[in-house]
Amino acid sequence: MIDIKGLTKQADNKLILRGIDLSIKQGETVAILGPNGAGKSTLLKVLSTLIKPTTGQVMINGLNLKKNQLEIKKLFGYLPHSSLLYDQYSPLENLVFFGELYGVNNPEKRATELVKEVGLSFFLNEPVKNFSRGMIQRIAIARAIVHEPRILYLDEPHTGLDQGAIAILNNVIVSMKVKGTTTIMVTHDFKQAAEICDRILIMKNGKIVDDFKLKERNLDLLNDKYQLQVEGVS
Ligand SMILES: Nc1ncnc2c1ncn2[C@@H]1O[C@H](COP(=O)(O)OP(=O)(O)OP(=O)(O)O)[C@@H](O)[C@H]1O
Ligand SMILES: [Mg+2]
Repeated sequence: MIDIKGLTKQADNKLILRGIDLSIKQGETVAILGPNGAGKSTLLKVLSTLIKPTTGQVMINGLNLKKNQLEIKKLFGYLPHSSLLYDQYSPLENLVFFGELYGVNNPEKRATELVKEVGLSFFLNEPVKNFSRGMIQRIAIARAIVHEPRILYLDEPHTGLDQGAIAILNNVIVSMKVKGTTTIMVTHDFKQAAEICDRILIMKNGKIVDDFKLKERNLDLLNDKYQLQVEGVS
Protein backbone atom coordinates (compact mmCIF):
# COMPACT_ATOMS: atom_id res chain seq x y z
CA MET A 1 0.00 0.00 0.00
CA ILE A 2 2.82 2.44 0.88
CA ASP A 3 6.17 1.89 -0.83
CA ILE A 4 9.09 4.22 -0.27
CA LYS A 5 12.41 3.81 -2.06
CA GLY A 6 15.56 5.86 -1.59
CA LEU A 7 13.68 8.85 -0.17
CA THR A 8 15.77 11.88 0.78
CA LYS A 9 14.79 15.39 1.78
CA GLN A 10 17.20 18.26 1.78
CA ALA A 11 16.42 21.74 3.11
CA ASP A 12 18.85 24.63 3.60
CA ASN A 13 21.81 22.42 2.70
CA LYS A 14 20.81 20.03 5.44
CA LEU A 15 19.92 16.44 4.68
CA ILE A 16 16.87 15.84 6.86
CA LEU A 17 15.89 12.44 5.41
CA ARG A 18 18.93 10.39 4.39
CA GLY A 19 17.59 7.52 2.34
CA ILE A 20 14.36 5.95 3.59
CA ASP A 21 13.28 2.56 2.26
CA LEU A 22 10.01 1.38 3.66
CA SER A 23 7.09 -0.78 2.74
CA ILE A 24 3.82 -0.74 4.68
CA LYS A 25 0.90 -3.08 4.10
CA GLN A 26 -2.78 -2.24 4.17
CA GLY A 27 -4.17 -2.36 7.71
CA GLU A 28 -0.84 -2.09 9.54
CA THR A 29 -0.60 0.27 12.51
CA VAL A 30 2.93 1.62 12.56
CA ALA A 31 4.53 3.81 15.22
CA ILE A 32 7.52 5.98 14.36
CA LEU A 33 9.70 6.73 17.37
CA GLY A 34 12.92 8.70 17.58
CA PRO A 35 14.63 11.65 19.22
CA ASN A 36 13.78 15.30 18.47
CA GLY A 37 14.98 16.32 15.03
CA ALA A 38 15.22 12.75 13.71
CA GLY A 39 13.03 13.61 10.71
CA LYS A 40 9.78 11.93 11.80
CA SER A 41 7.46 14.87 11.10
CA THR A 42 9.32 15.56 7.85
CA LEU A 43 8.57 12.01 6.69
CA LEU A 44 4.86 12.48 7.46
CA LYS A 45 4.88 15.82 5.63
CA VAL A 46 6.34 14.16 2.53
CA LEU A 47 3.74 11.37 2.70
CA SER A 48 0.92 13.86 3.08
CA THR A 49 2.18 15.82 0.02
CA LEU A 50 2.87 18.92 2.13
CA ILE A 51 6.51 19.00 1.09
CA LYS A 52 8.27 17.47 -1.90
CA PRO A 53 10.95 14.82 -1.61
CA THR A 54 14.40 15.72 -2.92
CA THR A 55 15.06 12.26 -4.37
CA GLY A 56 13.45 8.85 -4.26
CA GLN A 57 10.12 7.33 -5.09
CA VAL A 58 6.93 7.11 -3.05
CA MET A 59 4.04 4.93 -4.24
CA ILE A 60 0.70 4.93 -2.41
CA ASN A 61 -1.91 2.38 -3.48
CA GLY A 62 -0.07 2.07 -6.77
CA LEU A 63 -0.14 5.84 -7.31
CA ASN A 64 3.04 7.86 -7.69
CA LEU A 65 3.19 10.63 -5.08
CA LYS A 66 4.86 12.98 -7.56
CA LYS A 67 2.27 12.56 -10.28
CA ASN A 68 -1.03 11.81 -8.54
CA GLN A 69 -1.24 14.28 -5.67
CA LEU A 70 -4.98 14.95 -6.05
CA GLU A 71 -5.98 11.28 -6.00
CA ILE A 72 -3.58 10.56 -3.16
CA LYS A 73 -4.94 13.44 -1.05
CA LYS A 74 -8.35 11.74 -0.94
CA LEU A 75 -6.83 8.56 0.47
CA PHE A 76 -5.35 9.86 3.70
CA GLY A 77 -6.22 11.85 6.79
CA TYR A 78 -3.44 13.89 8.38
CA LEU A 79 -3.27 15.13 11.96
CA PRO A 80 -0.30 17.51 12.25
CA HIS A 81 0.78 19.55 15.29
CA SER A 82 -1.49 22.41 14.28
CA SER A 83 -5.20 21.64 14.28
CA LEU A 84 -5.95 23.08 10.79
CA LEU A 85 -9.30 24.21 12.22
CA TYR A 86 -10.90 27.61 11.64
CA ASP A 87 -10.88 29.38 14.96
CA GLN A 88 -13.98 31.51 14.56
CA TYR A 89 -16.11 28.54 13.48
CA SER A 90 -17.76 25.83 15.55
CA PRO A 91 -16.88 22.11 15.42
CA LEU A 92 -19.99 21.53 13.31
CA GLU A 93 -19.08 24.27 10.82
CA ASN A 94 -15.45 23.14 10.64
CA LEU A 95 -16.30 19.49 10.06
CA VAL A 96 -19.03 20.26 7.52
CA PHE A 97 -16.54 22.45 5.65
CA PHE A 98 -13.89 19.71 5.52
CA GLY A 99 -16.55 17.06 4.82
CA GLU A 100 -17.75 19.03 1.79
CA LEU A 101 -14.18 19.52 0.64
CA TYR A 102 -13.75 15.74 0.55
CA GLY A 103 -17.17 15.09 -0.99
CA VAL A 104 -18.58 13.31 2.07
CA ASN A 105 -22.24 12.26 1.78
CA ASN A 106 -24.49 14.17 4.17
CA PRO A 107 -21.62 16.07 5.84
CA GLU A 108 -23.84 17.50 8.58
CA LYS A 109 -24.85 14.07 9.78
CA ARG A 110 -21.25 12.85 9.64
CA ALA A 111 -19.99 15.98 11.46
CA THR A 112 -22.57 15.68 14.21
CA GLU A 113 -21.76 11.97 14.70
CA LEU A 114 -18.04 12.69 14.89
CA VAL A 115 -18.42 15.49 17.43
CA LYS A 116 -20.43 13.06 19.53
CA GLU A 117 -17.79 10.36 19.06
CA VAL A 118 -15.08 12.67 20.44
CA GLY A 119 -17.33 13.60 23.36
CA LEU A 120 -18.00 17.27 22.55
CA SER A 121 -21.67 17.28 21.52
CA PHE A 122 -22.35 19.90 24.16
CA PHE A 123 -20.01 22.29 22.31
CA LEU A 124 -21.24 21.51 18.78
CA ASN A 125 -22.01 25.15 17.97
CA GLU A 126 -19.40 26.99 20.07
CA PRO A 127 -16.54 28.71 18.25
CA VAL A 128 -13.38 26.63 18.43
CA LYS A 129 -11.40 29.67 19.62
CA ASN A 130 -12.90 29.24 23.11
CA PHE A 131 -11.74 25.62 23.34
CA SER A 132 -8.96 24.20 25.50
CA ARG A 133 -5.98 22.51 23.82
CA GLY A 134 -7.36 19.03 24.46
CA MET A 135 -10.78 19.96 23.11
CA ILE A 136 -9.19 21.35 19.95
CA GLN A 137 -7.17 18.15 19.57
CA ARG A 138 -10.38 16.10 19.83
CA ILE A 139 -11.98 18.09 17.00
CA ALA A 140 -8.74 17.93 15.00
CA ILE A 141 -8.91 14.13 15.24
CA ALA A 142 -12.50 14.23 13.98
CA ARG A 143 -11.35 16.47 11.11
CA ALA A 144 -8.63 14.03 10.10
CA ILE A 145 -11.12 11.16 9.75
CA VAL A 146 -14.18 13.00 8.42
CA HIS A 147 -13.83 11.34 4.97
CA GLU A 148 -13.10 7.86 6.39
CA PRO A 149 -9.59 7.75 4.92
CA ARG A 150 -7.82 4.51 4.01
CA ILE A 151 -4.62 5.86 5.55
CA LEU A 152 -4.09 7.92 8.70
CA TYR A 153 -0.97 10.00 9.38
CA LEU A 154 -0.83 11.12 13.00
CA ASP A 155 1.88 13.41 14.37
CA GLU A 156 2.04 13.08 18.17
CA PRO A 157 -1.73 12.68 18.39
CA HIS A 158 -1.88 11.97 22.13
CA THR A 159 -0.22 15.23 23.14
CA GLY A 160 -2.50 17.30 25.36
CA LEU A 161 -5.23 14.71 25.65
CA ASP A 162 -6.75 13.64 28.95
CA GLN A 163 -7.31 9.97 29.79
CA GLY A 164 -10.83 10.01 28.34
CA ALA A 165 -9.66 11.53 25.07
CA ILE A 166 -6.73 9.08 24.85
CA ALA A 167 -9.23 6.23 25.09
CA ILE A 168 -11.42 7.87 22.41
CA LEU A 169 -8.45 8.35 20.07
CA ASN A 170 -7.21 4.78 20.57
CA ASN A 171 -10.71 3.48 19.89
CA VAL A 172 -10.86 5.50 16.69
CA ILE A 173 -7.54 4.05 15.52
CA VAL A 174 -8.41 0.48 16.47
CA SER A 175 -11.89 0.59 14.95
CA MET A 176 -10.47 2.06 11.74
CA LYS A 177 -7.85 -0.67 11.69
CA VAL A 178 -10.63 -3.26 11.81
CA LYS A 179 -12.01 -1.66 8.65
CA GLY A 180 -8.59 -1.98 7.00
CA THR A 181 -7.23 1.52 7.57
CA THR A 182 -3.45 1.87 7.64
CA THR A 183 -2.10 4.11 10.41
CA ILE A 184 1.31 5.72 10.71
CA MET A 185 1.73 7.47 14.04
CA VAL A 186 4.71 9.56 15.13
CA THR A 187 4.91 9.57 18.89
CA HIS A 188 7.10 10.01 21.97
CA ASP A 189 4.52 8.12 24.01
CA PHE A 190 5.84 4.55 24.07
CA LYS A 191 2.93 3.30 26.12
CA GLN A 192 0.38 4.40 23.51
CA ALA A 193 2.62 3.07 20.71
CA ALA A 194 2.68 -0.36 22.36
CA GLU A 195 -1.04 -0.15 23.06
CA ILE A 196 -2.19 0.37 19.46
CA CYS A 197 0.63 -0.38 17.05
CA ASP A 198 1.73 -3.71 15.65
CA ARG A 199 4.92 -2.47 14.07
CA ILE A 200 7.57 -0.07 15.34
CA LEU A 201 10.04 2.03 13.36
CA ILE A 202 12.85 3.86 15.09
CA MET A 203 14.29 6.89 13.31
CA LYS A 204 17.57 8.59 14.04
CA ASN A 205 19.42 11.24 12.00
CA GLY A 206 17.06 10.98 9.05
CA LYS A 207 17.24 7.19 8.76
CA ILE A 208 15.22 4.21 9.92
CA VAL A 209 17.55 2.39 12.30
CA ASP A 210 15.15 -0.31 13.48
CA ASP A 211 11.92 -1.83 12.21
CA PHE A 212 10.19 -4.63 14.09
CA LYS A 213 6.83 -6.22 14.81
CA LEU A 214 5.43 -5.75 18.29
CA LYS A 215 3.33 -8.48 19.83
CA GLU A 216 1.23 -8.47 22.98
CA ARG A 217 1.83 -4.79 23.69
CA ASN A 218 5.38 -5.57 24.70
CA LEU A 219 6.41 -2.20 26.12
CA ASP A 220 9.60 -3.65 27.63
CA LEU A 221 10.83 -4.86 24.23
CA LEU A 222 10.08 -1.44 22.77
CA ASN A 223 12.01 0.34 25.54
CA ASP A 224 14.98 -2.03 25.18
CA LYS A 225 15.17 -1.63 21.41
CA TYR A 226 14.90 2.14 21.65
CA GLN A 227 17.62 2.40 24.27
CA LEU A 228 19.88 0.21 22.19
CA GLN A 229 19.38 2.20 18.98
CA VAL A 230 19.08 5.72 20.28
CA GLU A 231 20.96 5.81 23.52
CA GLY A 232 23.47 3.08 22.71
CA VAL A 233 22.69 1.09 25.86
CA SER A 234 22.45 -2.70 25.71
N1 LIG B 1 11.85 23.60 6.30
C1 LIG B 1 12.97 23.25 6.95
N2 LIG B 1 14.14 23.86 6.66
C2 LIG B 1 15.26 23.50 7.30
N3 LIG B 1 15.34 22.54 8.21
C3 LIG B 1 14.23 21.91 8.55
C4 LIG B 1 12.97 22.21 7.94
N4 LIG B 1 12.04 21.41 8.47
C5 LIG B 1 12.68 20.63 9.38
N5 LIG B 1 13.98 20.92 9.43
C6 LIG B 1 14.99 20.26 10.25
O1 LIG B 1 14.90 18.88 10.00
C7 LIG B 1 15.17 18.13 11.15
C8 LIG B 1 14.06 17.14 11.39
O2 LIG B 1 12.87 17.82 11.74
P1 LIG B 1 11.52 17.05 12.09
O3 LIG B 1 10.51 18.07 12.45
O4 LIG B 1 11.20 16.11 10.98
O5 LIG B 1 11.96 16.21 13.37
P2 LIG B 1 11.10 15.26 14.33
O6 LIG B 1 11.73 13.93 14.29
O7 LIG B 1 9.66 15.36 13.98
O8 LIG B 1 11.39 15.90 15.75
P3 LIG B 1 10.42 16.15 17.04
O9 LIG B 1 10.45 14.89 17.82
O10 LIG B 1 11.11 17.25 17.76
O11 LIG B 1 9.07 16.53 16.56
C9 LIG B 1 15.37 19.14 12.27
O12 LIG B 1 16.74 19.31 12.49
C10 LIG B 1 14.76 20.40 11.72
O13 LIG B 1 15.40 21.53 12.23
MG1 LIG C 1 8.01 16.13 14.93
